[in-house]
Amino acid sequence: MVEKLAAAKMRLLVTGGAGFIGANFCHYWRCRYPQGTLVVLDALTYAGNRASLSSLEGQACTFVAGDINDTPLVEKLLQEHELNTIVHFAAESHVDRSIHDPDAFLNTNILGTHSLLRAARKQWLDGPQGVIPHRFHHISTDEVYGTLGPQDPAFREDTPYAPNSPYAASKAASDHLVRAYQHTYGLCTTTSNCSNNYGPYHFPEKLIPLVILNILHGRPLPIYGDGQQIRDWLFVEDHCQGIALILEQGVEGENYNIGGHNEWANLDIVRLICRLLDEAFAADATLAERYPHAAPSQGKPAESLISYVKDRPGHDRRYAIDASKIGRELGYTPQHSFEEGIRKTVDWYLQNTGWWQPLLGEQYAQWVQKQYAS
Ligand code: NAD
Ligand code: TYD
Repeated sequence: MVEKLAAAKMRLLVTGGAGFIGANFCHYWRCRYPQGTLVVLDALTYAGNRASLSSLEGQACTFVAGDINDTPLVEKLLQEHELNTIVHFAAESHVDRSIHDPDAFLNTNILGTHSLLRAARKQWLDGPQGVIPHRFHHISTDEVYGTLGPQDPAFREDTPYAPNSPYAASKAASDHLVRAYQHTYGLCTTTSNCSNNYGPYHFPEKLIPLVILNILHGRPLPIYGDGQQIRDWLFVEDHCQGIALILEQGVEGENYNIGGHNEWANLDIVRLICRLLDEAFAADATLAERYPHAAPSQGKPAESLISYVKDRPGHDRRYAIDASKIGRELGYTPQHSFEEGIRKTVDWYLQNTGWWQPLLGEQYAQWVQKQYAS
């Protein structure tokens, strides 16, 4: 076992910190530890957005544009900034994209994770100073466990892996590599497997932000198949809290499931967002001026935009997380009810047009078109 690293001494490399969860984590960690070193490494793919970090840069948050597959760059960052903690978010993360183009998922999620592990091992275990206290925390997903039937118990840390999409398979492979580096070389690792997140800075290809923005633009709300697939939704800040607890107290070599005991069928979530936006437009007349194409601006309920489309191939029916281990061992409890989190999220998108407007350019339009064509 590597000597435990005190949280106050952690000097973090956050990979994928310009993405949805990574950016939320940087904000969360900066509030919890205003002084600590924070270096973000992000390749700024379509999903990476430096604007999500703009209020942090300069407050001891260093941004480096680069690829996790660039092992010499990772080694240089670890050395130059004397970093002793990697919080690894960087990934290709969208199941639909993994169905169209799996190669990028293998490259970033599997080879990229291995590149980081190799650099960490060289720097923290095999460097001139010998073994130095460190931690490699790997962010994974509940999708590695496969799909559940309606009555099955929720995923636990000892549920066997059964990934169904190329995305889930690539994440499962990366989890195994992390495990192997701990078991074989003694790297101090922890892994968390979290359920679906929602909240600010979420790229609008994923269900919740897509539905909010499509309502605002009067576009169809695509429901895959019968819309009865179930996901277990967690407000992103609550995920960040779970990660912080693991960094502070997590036991080397352990996996922790993080979730919110909050299962919803997709169709019900979409209907809920429709209702919240109808109410927001009814309460604030300026919204109709700002979003003249929105269904409520046209005198129609947002639900009238719901449109059933072909199902995703291999679509997992149900995910549910049993988060009792992290609750029992690290004192984790989500702080946001779903009602609170989803209202905060809808309000955030209504108030932060400047963040999402630039994302709806040509590349996004091509992606949407490809989706509808398939
Ligand atoms: P995201 O797609 O929003 O962000 C991914 C980030 O990684 C982007 O900023 C992108 O530029 C960066 N990136 C991609 N390839 C890179 C590379 N080769 N080198 C450096 N940076 C690269 O993803 P997210 O939703 O924030 O997910 C973050 C992590 O959490 C992922 O590992 C994902 O598997 C996991 N996760 C996500 C969810 C969810 O609901 N979104 C749930 C559980 C786990
Ligand atoms: P998504 O946000 O892509 O997350 P994940 O696939 O990682 O769970 O999708 C959440 C659920 O919503 C999933 O069951 C697929 C479904 N979905 C739709 O029905 N329509 C859509 O347009 C999208 C993007 C997703």
